[in-house]
Amino acid sequence: MKVFAHRGASGDYPENTILAFDKALTFDIYGIELDVHKSKDGHLVIIHDEDIQRTFKGKGLVVDYTLSELKKFNCRKFEFIENLDCKIPTLREVFELIKDTDIILNIEAKTDLIHYDIEQDIIDIIKEYNFEKKVLISSFNHKCIKIFKELDNNLKYGALYYSEKDYSSEANVVEHAKKLGVYSINISKDLVTKEIVDLAHENGLKVFVYTINSPILMRKMIEYNVDGIFSDYPDLTNEIRKKY
Ligand code: G3P
Ligand code: MG
Repeated sequence: MKVFAHRGASGDYPENTILAFDKALTFDIYGIELDVHKSKDGHLVIIHDEDIQRTFKGKGLVVDYTLSELKKFNCRKFEFIENLDCKIPTLREVFELIKDTDIILNIEAKTDLIHYDIEQDIIDIIKEYNFEKKVLISSFNHKCIKIFKELDNNLKYGALYYSEKDYSSEANVVEHAKKLGVYSINISKDLVTKEIVDLAHENGLKVFVYTINSPILMRKMIEYNVDGIFSDYPDLTNEIRKKY
């Protein structure tokens, strides 16, 4: 079972920051997951929410700030307020961080609430760094995945699923993912079942499950034979995997 550090090592460090990614690299992980939005001046920036206020000391939407304005905000976790590695990073900064590692990057295009014109920009930077084999692109916004696939059908894509509504047009999630033509089903822990995993595998699809933070769920995912999990605690996950 592969482990993605979800938003970096976000259980112990501020999520989606260079510090959290750097710490994640010290663990035996397969990949890092991060969330991408677009700034007012067109930079790809790493943050989970459309609004900066939950994780940074500021107010407003990412899309209303330029990169240099976004860089001024301090992170909200008080132990890390002064830490320069806890500012809003760009996708380019993360690419620089991992370029000499064998880490896979799961780039989640956060286009669910605001559909930024982001797909070509992400593909361009992947090509610039020759990261075609190093990335998995995912989104809850399946229209966004379709756009990606029209632009480049050779990259790996994962369709994110949160609730049954997300695949209600088809008989089941596997049929939905097959129709989209994705590499993986990236599914919530509340939706995944052993039957889904088996059916996905019979149909040549990978299954990655988010967000798995408790040892009980980690063991369950190993028993389900999922291909990978996203965890805020990749070190804990490794402990469980090794003992299992
Ligand atoms: O990509 C897996 C997971 O990150 C999806 O949910 O809200 O944590 O981005 P969220
Ligand atoms: Mg995410």
